Amino acid sequence: MGFLNFNSKNIGIDLGTASILVVVEDKGICINEPSIIAVEKKTNKIVAVGNDAKETIGKTPQKIEALRPLQHAGIADLKATEMIVKNIIKRIDENENIGNPKIVINLHIGMTELEKIAVLKVIKDMGIKEVYVIDEPIAAALGANIDIFSSEGKMIVDLGAGTTETAIISLGKIVACDSLRIAGDDLDECIIEYIKKNFNLEIGKNAAEKIKIEIGYAKPIVGKNIKIKGRDLQTGLPKEITINALQVNEAIRNALDSIIEMLRNTIDRTPPELIDNIYNSGIVLTGGGACLKDFDELIGQRLGIKVYIANRPTECTALGIGKIIQDEKKMKDLKAKKGM
Ligand SMILES: Nc1ncnc2c1ncn2[C@@H]1O[C@H](COP(=O)(O)OP(=O)(O)OP(=O)(O)O)[C@@H](O)[C@H]1O
Ligand SMILES: [Mg+2]
Repeated sequence: MGFLNFNSKNIGIDLGTASILVVVEDKGICINEPSIIAVEKKTNKIVAVGNDAKETIGKTPQKIEALRPLQHAGIADLKATEMIVKNIIKRIDENENIGNPKIVINLHIGMTELEKIAVLKVIKDMGIKEVYVIDEPIAAALGANIDIFSSEGKMIVDLGAGTTETAIISLGKIVACDSLRIAGDDLDECIIEYIKKNFNLEIGKNAAEKIKIEIGYAKPIVGKNIKIKGRDLQTGLPKEITINALQVNEAIRNALDSIIEMLRNTIDRTPPELIDNIYNSGIVLTGGGACLKDFDELIGQRLGIKVYIANRPTECTALGIGKIIQDEKKMKDLKAKKGM
C-alpha cells in the first residue's frame, strides 16, 4: 500500500466463515471468494487463496494443507487469517491503488471479547491505523435495505456458515439479539454424520454441501434424490449411494429446530411495544442459509410471522458495509475502541 498516496479509499471487509467479501469506496464489491487458504506445510508459503484454494480441499497432496482460518465465525487460526486478509488487500491494492485506507469490518455479535481483539489485531498488524467495526446484523440489515433508523422495530436473521445471528433493530440500535454457533457448516456436518451412520459411507465437506444445496429442504418432501460418491467404511473402497430429500431433512431437522428456538426466545425478550412492529413488518433473512429451500416457510409457520428472504442474501453484509464506507459521518460512530 502506498503510504504517500493521498487518494486513500475506504475499504470494507465481510470476514465470513465461508466467504470473504471486500468492498471498495465508489466501486462496490470487488472480491467475493471462499475464506480458504492453501499453504505448503514445511515452509508456510501460500500456494493458493480463495477460489483456487477451495479446489484443493480434500485433494491436497500431503505437503500442502488447505486451511479455513475461521470456524464458527471465530478465528481458529490467527496466522492463516492474517495471510488471507493480507493477500486479499494486496490484490485489491494492485487493482485499485487504495493508498492508506480506513477499514470497516464486521464483527459477529456472538464473538467473545478475545475473538474481537484477535480480528482487530490482524487488521492493525497490517499497518492500518483507522479501523471501524460494525455488528454483522446491522450491516446485513443495511444491505437488505431495511430502514434500521426508523422507530419501528425490525427483525433480521443472518444465517451464515459458522453462526446464526438475529437482532431486533430500532432507531439504528440493536434492542434484542442472540446468536448460535449452529449454521450452514453444521448442516453439512449433520449430513456427513447421517450418511456415515445410515450408509456406512464417508463423504467430504464439499459433497455434503452439494447435497444440502441441491436437495436440502427444511420441510419433508418426497420425490427428490441425488447420487453421491464416498468411501465405504467397511471395505475402504469407493462406493456410490442415492440419498433422498426426506433423509436429508431428517439429518438437518434438529439443527433447524435449534435455530428456530433461538428466534422464538429472542422474540420473547423483545420489548412489547416493538412486538407489534415485528408482526407487521415480518422477519428478513440474509446469509447463505436463507437459500435453504423452504426454511423461510418453516420459520414463518412455527413463529406465526411473515418471513422474507433479502435480495442477494450472501452479499447483504458486504453491501451494508459498502453503504457505511461511503459515509464518513456514520463511520465515526463505529470507530474501534482502544483495547478492543
Ligand atoms: N442454496 C443454498 N442452500 C442452502 N445453504 C446454502 C445455499 N447457498 C449457500 N448456502 C450455505 O450458506 C453458508 C454460507 O453463507 P454466508 O456466505 O452468509 O456465510 P459467512 O458469512 O461466510 O459465514 P458467517 O457469517 O457465519 O461467518 C454455507 O454454509 C453454504 O453452504
Ligand atoms: Mg456472514
